[in-house]
Amino acid sequence: MDENTPVQHNIDPKQSCLKLMNTLLATLTVFEREVKMAHWNYMATDFVSIHPWLDTVHDDVCQCIDDVAEEIRKSLCFPQGTLQECLTNSAIQPTMTPGPCTKESAFAMLVMDLTKIRELADALSTMADENKFWTVQDLANGILSKMSHHMYFVKNTVNTSKPPED
Ligand SMILES: [Fe+2]
Repeated sequence: MDENTPVQHNIDPKQSCLKLMNTLLATLTVFEREVKMAHWNYMATDFVSIHPWLDTVHDDVCQCIDDVAEEIRKSLCFPQGTLQECLTNSAIQPTMTPGPCTKESAFAMLVMDLTKIRELADALSTMADENKFWTVQDLANGILSKMSHHMYFVKNTVNTSKPPED
């Protein structure tokens, strides 16, 4: 096949969408544990504000997990939601370790994981839009909105010397 031959897209859009939703489900599930570990083990002078704020992030992540899993069930499929499946399918790896969680390690994790989740939600939104999967697009945009809101708080906390980008 030369470079001018069109690439055949034989992959069923519905299956591609389901695969991406399962990747997002797995990634959010790993992130859920990372956020809770940071909430429990955080040790810094701003503990009084960061400790409860991390639980608001956690609440949103749990809602997103439930929304993704139930959207998969609406397609008459079953979510790949066991812990083992989530560890295998996740686009992020756990970085939290036992013991104290410093401000640096907590916020490095948050920036890295929120960035990846926003990328996945954005890709899912685009794919759903191209295939007129409107409820999936609503789901993806809702996750993007929630995670972008938290990224705004993260960037304002990490870099207070200049306004955050994006
Ligand atoms: Fe708590």
